[in-house]
Amino acid sequence: MASSPVLPWKTKIVFAIFSAVADTVYRSNGTINRRLINFLEAKVSANDKPYRGVKTSDVVVDETRNLWFRLFTPTEIHKHHVIPLPVIVFFHGGGFSLSSADGIAYDELCRKFAVQFSAIIVSVNYRLAPEHRFPSQYDDGIDTLKFLDETEFNRFGFPTFADLSKCFLAGDSAGGNLAHHVAVRSGKTNFKRVKVIGQISIQPFFGGEERTESETRLAKAQPIPVERTDWMWKAFLPEGENRDHEAVNVSGSRAMDINGVKYPATMVVVGGFDPLQDRQREFYKWLKRNEKEVKLVEYPNAIHAFLVFPELPEGSEFITEARNFVHEVRGK
Ligand SMILES: *[C@@H]1O[C@H](CO)[C@@H](O)[C@H](O)[C@H]1NC(C)=O
Ligand SMILES: *[C@@H]1O[C@H](CO)[C@@H](O)[C@H](O)[C@H]1NC(C)=O
Repeated sequence: MASSPVLPWKTKIVFAIFSAVADTVYRSNGTINRRLINFLEAKVSANDKPYRGVKTSDVVVDETRNLWFRLFTPTEIHKHHVIPLPVIVFFHGGGFSLSSADGIAYDELCRKFAVQFSAIIVSVNYRLAPEHRFPSQYDDGIDTLKFLDETEFNRFGFPTFADLSKCFLAGDSAGGNLAHHVAVRSGKTNFKRVKVIGQISIQPFFGGEERTESETRLAKAQPIPVERTDWMWKAFLPEGENRDHEAVNVSGSRAMDINGVKYPATMVVVGGFDPLQDRQREFYKWLKRNEKEVKLVEYPNAIHAFLVFPELPEGSEFITEARNFVHEVRGK
């Protein structure tokens, strides 16, 4: 069986560049070359002037830990709609150790989400590993929800037509892992305004000690060969922990008990060339067993992180599917 679908040259070039610098980025002593990463990652600043129908601003949640989010507000949709818009709290991918809310790839993606899903997007710039390990990222996620819950809209430029009682969590890869853990925490939190009703779980990053069939078969698949994900987990987990930790092996024997915990309606997105696919289907089944509302969406030809490669065809299929999901869930 092939370990990769036929990919456009653009995607291949990105992988080739990344493979060439990966060993310099992910050091064998467990640290990351932040300087090189910052140099390689193209960033864009927030812009109050609408671009592609969306204006953006950066909002500080907690200065002491440099926690902030980029707010994406669609400017055209609201002219034609009088109904309030749902709020999607988004967590970017990058193995908990890379990427940011102001990186160009995620800025463009969230801009697209805002227009296509008719929603306000809050893209969280959570702290990264290994400088900040578990549970910093989950703390940053839930604290951002608490900030939205408690802060007066006009104090941070939140649009008055944002409806926090129609809140979604979303994330890809490590962001999908984060969304899940923040969903569980928010199910146990009494919010005043925030009501988390949906979750878009895009190729969530889960793992475990024992290899699954797909992890073995796709061990060398770009962009997350197994040795790289092993490195990422090690950088994220507390010293001395292994991958059967509840944060990683989310449906294993050390899993959090979600029985009776309020959990949002969830859409799990799986790619057929993603080494993580077995774990993601396992996650789906585990949610089902716990009687949560969940649907599985499979793209047989998709690689991991297909969404950040706009040249790949599954991106637009996903947008249509997720748009329907958002409409369905918010209409309930
Ligand atoms: C890890 O390696 C880098 C590069 O060789 C070095 O600068 C850094 O100090 C090392 N850190 C630790 C904790 O060993
Ligand atoms: C980890 O995950 C695998 C696959 O989801 C599962 O079969 C296994 O029991 C888990 N291990 C532990 C120790 O929880």
